[in-house]
Amino acid sequence: MSIIFLNGHYVHEKDARISPFDRGFTFGEGIYEVCIAINGKFVDALEHLARLERSLKECGIDTPPERDELSNIMSELLQKNDITTGLVYLQITPGASPRNFTIRPEGRPTLLMLAQGVDFKRSPAFLDGIHVQMRQDIRWLRRDIKTTMLMPQVMAKRDALSNGVSDTLYYDEYGITEGASSNVFLVDANGTLITRALSNHLLAGCTRARILDLAQNIGLTVEDRPIQLTEFVTAAECFVTSATYLIAPILTVDGVIIKDGKAGPITRLLQNKYCDYIEYN
Ligand code: PDD
Repeated sequence: MSIIFLNGHYVHEKDARISPFDRGFTFGEGIYEVCIAINGKFVDALEHLARLERSLKECGIDTPPERDELSNIMSELLQKNDITTGLVYLQITPGASPRNFTIRPEGRPTLLMLAQGVDFKRSPAFLDGIHVQMRQDIRWLRRDIKTTMLMPQVMAKRDALSNGVSDTLYYDEYGITEGASSNVFLVDANGTLITRALSNHLLAGCTRARILDLAQNIGLTVEDRPIQLTEFVTAAECFVTSATYLIAPILTVDGVIIKDGKAGPITRLLQNKYCDYIEYN
């Protein structure tokens, strides 16, 4: 049984109560973040909280408590659940109102935090890599907002599993946008690292930003442009990044084997650098 944080209180999950009129429930009107901790240390918590504030602002939802207060709650939640390595899920909705599209609730926003223990560095995705499929990006055009409206992603991931692969990469008319819950990188035959530039077409991943920093530190050439669907055939390496994947090598895309079907040297190097960053920063 886990302890959660809801609207100012730490409670057992079975005692938590959210109104059926909460707009997160009736309209999917909500913003979330997933921030991980490894050995008791949060990874890029400030960046996640800054993105949370931005998402809320873009949707016109009241600003949350101060960042310091949120990070204290995050730490306390891990302690209360006896977790040193795992994730904190944070969700904010505008709160409860009659079911009416435009009305703004009079009460306070709903703030929910949950913690789960996960050993990210021992996941098969991180250690061995993943197989993925490509699907047309059917989501809305404000993918820069981290909203809880995740039905397309749930469907895409379930569809991937039913096709014998573990995740879906989305594409639009320009090329790959992002993964269903990750950002996508490709290393071409010349060793250039390619990933889509930030825009409303994808989420500005906190892991993506960190990996780009690390890549530049080790002297990689980076191109921020859409990966073309045909580029997987000649790619040297491919990987996805997210708070929970960290960096997961992609081994096949729609059955096309990337190089020799194993995690490549640049992917492994970036995994090591990222783990060092997590440990020493
Ligand atoms: N998802 N793109 C999408 C659509 C995502 O949902 C995520 C993260 C990312 C990567 O962002 P970051 O590196 O900041 O985690 C990109 C989280 C992990 C989730 O929904 O569980």
